[in-house]
Amino acid sequence: MRGCAKMRMETDENVHPAVAIAPSILAANFASLEEAIRAVERGGADIIHVDVMDGHFVPNITVGVPVVASLRKATRLPLDVHLMIENPEQYIEAFVEAGADMISVHQESTPHLDRALEMIRERGRSAGAVINPGTPVEALSEVLDRVDHILVMSVNPGFGGQSFIPNALEKIQKLRKMRERYNANFRIEVDGGVDLGNVAQIVRAGAQILVAGTSIFHTADPAAAVHSLKQAATEALAQPLRAERGASKG
Ligand code: DX5
Ligand code: ZN
Repeated sequence: MRGCAKMRMETDENVHPAVAIAPSILAANFASLEEAIRAVERGGADIIHVDVMDGHFVPNITVGVPVVASLRKATRLPLDVHLMIENPEQYIEAFVEAGADMISVHQESTPHLDRALEMIRERGRSAGAVINPGTPVEALSEVLDRVDHILVMSVNPGFGGQSFIPNALEKIQKLRKMRERYNANFRIEVDGGVDLGNVAQIVRAGAQILVAGTSIFHTADPAAAVHSLKQAATEALAQPLRAERGASKG
């Protein structure tokens, strides 16, 4: 599977995993998506995040399968398809066919989360479960060994440009502990309101994939914005390491 084998290797618990930046094209100009992708590729983006909304599960409509198929031809980066739709199981096959590498399904969107995750996994794609700000992490306790990534929403889904809801930090920390306790190895992703002001806290809490729309595309230079976000994330992770090294010396 494109890109994903490498991403899994980076989950090694013994090292600080490299943080992946996943620009959300929701904040880009939909009339020139290819240009938007080229810019974030130049800036060092690791993943392209695609928000699929149906106007039912969330009060907004965005893009669907044909756009993912076109993006597949435009980039070699892994495509991370975030499904904010009712009946997600009905569309998994189509998104796989279109070239999605990661597919994330909201816990709140289906009574058959386990089945949806299995459908994604058996098609060799990275299967993700998503929780809204109002959903506790415990809602995922029965699928921890059946997910490749868990997406913690740090805004209520439906729109870009909202402010980060801080309870996401505690949820990320809890998930990290649960992962350790159950010896699971999913990656932790966060989505909504991520910017230079909060990125350090977010990665220190344990997030490994950072989705960001507004803070990347609503700037004069999206390539530079990706670069700065990644640099800030990497530096925030390096600080505790330096402190540990300093402590062991003296
Ligand atoms: C919200 C989407 C997010 C959104 C993030 O429903 O899932 O991916 O694009 O955008 P910002 O970074 O603007 O909060
Ligand atoms: Zn999203």
